[in-house]
Amino acid sequence: MSFRIQPAAPARPNRCQLFGPGSRPAIFEKMAGSDADVINLDLEDSVAPSDKDSARENIIQAIGDIDWGKKTLSVRINGLDTPYWYKDVVDLLEKSGDRLDQIMIPKVGCAADLYAVDALVTAVERAKGRTKPIKFEVIIESAAGIAHVEEIAAGSPRLEAMSLGAADFAASMGMATTGIGGTQENYYMLHEGAKHWSDPWHWAQAAIVAACRTHGVLPVDGPFGDFSDDDGFRAQALRSATLGMVGKWAIHPKQVALANEVFTPSEAAVAEAREILAAMEEAKAKGEGATVYKGRLVDIASIKQAEVIVKQSEMIAGH
Ligand code: COA
Ligand code: MG
Repeated sequence: MSFRIQPAAPARPNRCQLFGPGSRPAIFEKMAGSDADVINLDLEDSVAPSDKDSARENIIQAIGDIDWGKKTLSVRINGLDTPYWYKDVVDLLEKSGDRLDQIMIPKVGCAADLYAVDALVTAVERAKGRTKPIKFEVIIESAAGIAHVEEIAAGSPRLEAMSLGAADFAASMGMATTGIGGTQENYYMLHEGAKHWSDPWHWAQAAIVAACRTHGVLPVDGPFGDFSDDDGFRAQALRSATLGMVGKWAIHPKQVALANEVFTPSEAAVAEAREILAAMEEAKAKGEGATVYKGRLVDIASIKQAEVIVKQSEMIAGH
């Protein structure tokens, strides 16, 4: 137990983050017209080294020129182990207008990574007189990132969201897979001769959710590489939602609707949550802390569980 109240995460929808390479400006308008809550224009791994400068210019131009509606607009900068990142930050903040909401920092390994970017961002914001503070989101995608996940979640007041990046994470961990997320063929238990597949991403996701919830940050599931496999995407997203994550990336536009479907509480789920709240109101009026709903126990903890669903639904509807 702690006397500290768990801080609320930012009250904005983050069901789907749609990515697109900064070197492919022809798709920017399509990204803006999508149903994704968050747009991530990429300067990092979907952009070849020879295209970094032009991609940066494309993005700076597009931030001002395109109508991004009510979306959260984020740019993924290059990692702190590259020669590109400082210019990404400086040029973005010096040359783009106030429409930019967020910078995504990939491959964070410790809280000092956020401190370093924060120092640079703060200096440019002051120099330029920017009045809207830039927010951060980070990707946990290395052994160091997951080992230091809690200090990273507490690493900057600018931090709003944290994603699991399955591909780089698997590489850094030395995992024997080339798949980006989802079921891994060789990760199974045997029971009476039958294979039962387990989820190799589970512990990293749960660690991210715990760190995020402790520090009021949105936990997000990263990419699912096989964009031809809708059922695989849905299964992965449902597991993430069950564990407490609020959304998932889309690396192809067809994944946006799938993510929105999974991370928007269904009408049935919201109706049931409201019924549980009503049942508990009745119990409270009778001076009882627990009651029976559809043949199962509900108690004061059930109020909090039901409120998570109702509040999420109201926040999405009201946005
Ligand atoms: N956002 C919005 N629209 C996109 C898009 C994206 N990320 N990717 C493709 N489209 C558009 C295409 O332009 C095409 O539009 P059209 O019907 O008007 O011609 C339509 O969606 C279908 O595209 P498709 O032909 O199936 O895909 P593609 O071969 O053009 O591109 C990828 C496939 C995977 C290369 C591309 O989706 C992509 O670059 N994804 C993001 C990669 C990324 O940012 N990775 C970094 C994070 S892991
Ligand atoms: Mg990565």
